[in-house]
Amino acid sequence: MRFIPVAQLEPGMITAKAIYDNSLLVTAANQTLTPKMISAVRRGRLQGLFIYDEYSDYEHLQVIVNDELRYRMVKELKDFNIDQVIYLTNQIVDSILQKKSDLLIDLNALAIYDNSTYQHSIDVTTLATTCGVGLGLSVQNLQYLALSAALHDIGKQAIPKAILNKEDALTDEEMELMRKHPKIGYEMLYNNNNISSYVRSAILSHHENWDGSGYPNQLKGTAIPIFARIIHVADVYDALIKKRSYKEAYSYNDSIEYLMAHCSDMFDIECVKSFIKYLVVYPVGSTVMLSNGKQAHVIKNRNTSVTRPVVMTEDKTVLDLAYDLDYLNVSITGFA
Ligand SMILES: [Fe+2]
Repeated sequence: MRFIPVAQLEPGMITAKAIYDNSLLVTAANQTLTPKMISAVRRGRLQGLFIYDEYSDYEHLQVIVNDELRYRMVKELKDFNIDQVIYLTNQIVDSILQKKSDLLIDLNALAIYDNSTYQHSIDVTTLATTCGVGLGLSVQNLQYLALSAALHDIGKQAIPKAILNKEDALTDEEMELMRKHPKIGYEMLYNNNNISSYVRSAILSHHENWDGSGYPNQLKGTAIPIFARIIHVADVYDALIKKRSYKEAYSYNDSIEYLMAHCSDMFDIECVKSFIKYLVVYPVGSTVMLSNGKQAHVIKNRNTSVTRPVVMTEDKTVLDLAYDLDYLNVSITGFA
């Protein structure tokens, strides 16, 4: 499959994955794009679509949250149906633990969804829980972490859409209101007996910075709850890689560099290290340059060899860069 930016979509292209926009299904996978569908996508908030190509049948993309689970989660978050959100986040934890021996986050499996708060919450749940696995959290703690991540921005339900989706810089008053969302989320869940105090504290503190410059309570270092420190990393990373009303999407690698550059002021370095460990370097579907001067297409990643995935050359030869002895002196030099 190939990621095609919205401006370059053409009738006749076939979708490689289902398309959701603003959390609604636009079309299923394996559908031929029509001019009408393309216009609908262009009016929406997607950056582009994954299109079926000659490599699609060979690709192995690890998907942690499938489309059905994603769709249900968005609905329950929107309806503030907490019991169902707990049930579904536990399913995400199970899905991650089942893949534990070869766990990795292929950003192409999640960065294609629109940038609405609910889709963002699901992706932060996946990213944060995976990071928690790397930190050795117990299953119970992973469930608390996943639930905190799913609900971290629930307080935005109380913020006017005009402010949430504003393209220009927010005024001081609007910014002040926006910064209330952690506290609002904390309060929305305060009387719910099914929500642990760990979850509420994580929601309240997910914008605190390691050096005490965050909000709402300017907590510092390990005084910030561990779930909040993890969610902060996942939240910022997911915001960077996606297009927002006020900014373009950053590349995956620039976004990783941003996390590393802010280890001392924004983030807990241990959380950043664990987070990065599971991110693929060359997502399935990307075209890369090899050191022998040829181009190749990434078809499979493994968490034991993230810089040396399985690739397919233009003449359809499959090269396992980690294990193919004839290609041990060939490496990837970058994206094509
Ligand atoms: Fe937030």
